[in-house]
Amino acid sequence: MKNNLKHIAIIMDGNGRWAQKRGMSRSMGHKKGASTLEKLAVHINDLNIEYLSVYAFSTDNFKRSKEEVDYLMNLFIEMFNKKFKKLQLKGIKVVFSGDKNGLRDDVVNSMDNITKETENNNGSVLNICLNYGSQEEIIRAANRYHNDLINNKVSINDINRDNFYKYMDNDLPPIDLLIRTGGEKRLSNFMLYQLTYAEIFFIDTLFPDFTTKKLDKIIDNFYLKDRRFGGISNEKKTNS
Ligand code: IPE
Ligand code: IPE
Ligand code: MG
Repeated sequence: MKNNLKHIAIIMDGNGRWAQKRGMSRSMGHKKGASTLEKLAVHINDLNIEYLSVYAFSTDNFKRSKEEVDYLMNLFIEMFNKKFKKLQLKGIKVVFSGDKNGLRDDVVNSMDNITKETENNNGSVLNICLNYGSQEEIIRAANRYHNDLINNKVSINDINRDNFYKYMDNDLPPIDLLIRTGGEKRLSNFMLYQLTYAEIFFIDTLFPDFTTKKLDKIIDNFYLKDRRFGGISNEKKTNS
């Protein structure tokens, strides 16, 4: 049977190096990366894949220069207020994971606007992780669960690994396929809970150079994987 592909996630890495290789400022890489993301989101929606989660800005990215952080925040505003109109037309629903506290008011306003504008859309869900850290998200989830407990909305025995997802920033299904561009083989505090059984593809392509064609190849490969989830593959079962 064909593997189920409901949720793709992308760690969009390599924007800075893409620009520096061309003698441009790192910011130009982020700008090109934003266009790449738009194309990928539309393509994934066209493929009828229900969820796409992308790592746009980690909580730890605040360690970067003020100039780079300011550029990124202004780019996000431009994306959510104007550039992403195409996503809206395609029926994509935009949601955010991460901590809105600690983000500028104008950034939060643009996030709230696009969330509101797209909330009734029926296309795929684009989950943008912004000021996001996975350990922080798990702590927020634990706090939400604790609140439900003290308000008697849930009992201590009700919680399990499947329904704990509802306490996350968004109630999304587990990730089936993760792609990290840019050559690094690490997760950098991205969706650790949701990635438990994901198939992971680390590729050297820098994010601005990532294309829908390259994505299609990875998806073809994903379908060939024997996803055992701790069990035994169907083929081997018949031999025992
Ligand atoms: C990823 O690209 C985008 C963000 C972290 C915002 P980088 O900016 O990390 O690019 P590299 O890894 O330095 O090339
Ligand atoms: C992860 O990339 C964050 C995003 C892609 C937004 P980083 O470039 O911040 O990760 P490290 O520092 O290489 O681990
Ligand atoms: Mg990087």
